[in-house]
Amino acid sequence: MKMNELKLIYFSPTGTTHKVVMETARSIDLKSVSFDLTIKKDLKPVAKFAPNDFALFAIPVYYGRVPALFLKYLDLFSGNGTPAALVATYGCREYEDALLELKTEVEKRGFKVIGAAAFPAEHSIVNSIGARRPNKADLKEASEYGISLNRIIKKEDSFASFDLKVPGNTPYRKYGKNVLFPKADVSLCTECSACAKICPAGAISLDNPKKTDHDKCIGCMKCVRFCKQKARYVSAFKLNMAAKKLTKVCQSDKKAEIFL
Ligand SMILES: Cc1cc2nc3c(=O)[nH]c(=O)nc-3n(C[C@H](O)[C@H](O)[C@H](O)COP(=O)(O)O)c2cc1C
Repeated sequence: MKMNELKLIYFSPTGTTHKVVMETARSIDLKSVSFDLTIKKDLKPVAKFAPNDFALFAIPVYYGRVPALFLKYLDLFSGNGTPAALVATYGCREYEDALLELKTEVEKRGFKVIGAAAFPAEHSIVNSIGARRPNKADLKEASEYGISLNRIIKKEDSFASFDLKVPGNTPYRKYGKNVLFPKADVSLCTECSACAKICPAGAISLDNPKKTDHDKCIGCMKCVRFCKQKARYVSAFKLNMAAKKLTKVCQSDKKAEIFL
């Protein structure tokens, strides 16, 4: 099939998913357009993709699932038998039902999934787990995944008969409850409101950036990562508890898994 454009639809609060999806995309021989859902969006009309577009959907795994916020934004997009591939990054624990859920949700909206991949990455809550991943070797895997996808989309005339199997179970795991709410250190915060502007969930008030709305905060750690004053932080006690728990169940040397 003569392919048209590569559509990159991703959510990446602390940037690892973005790195992986961009490396995958670099190996795909099509002009690309990005839809960065990490920036808070007002829901607008749906972007409809053509049968000869190719969509790459990329997410971080939250609680073994697709982040709920990403699912909300997914309604903005629809395919028309459009081939799609998936990328999930996870913090070296497990990705459980995330690929299955993403595949199911994407296909509900008119896409046909032809490839899926799970990449271990630095844990966005406890950064010592999988520290600095994706590393060179991970990015090579991402690039090779892109090469394989490129080969498939060039070779096939129709994607209707693709029946990709990915790991995961239904009913999906229950979402965990976020308890790690970043706060502002009042002695460091300059009220520049940069955190409020970049918060994907709109949980920080533009007028009073020292306040976090606990009902909206998804604990993605974007504000902690990007605050230039280093004023945003999670309580050391809670972070230590999370680190103790996660260190036991995560393996920093996990390998990427690719399904084609
Ligand atoms: C709220 C939350 C839940 C998470 N749940 C999981 C999980 O279930 N399994 C896992 O291995 N990593 C988990 N992680 C780690 C992220 O999936 C991982 O760090 C990911 O690469 C972050 O992507 P980003 O840099 O694009 O934001 C979680 C992180 C957060 C913030």
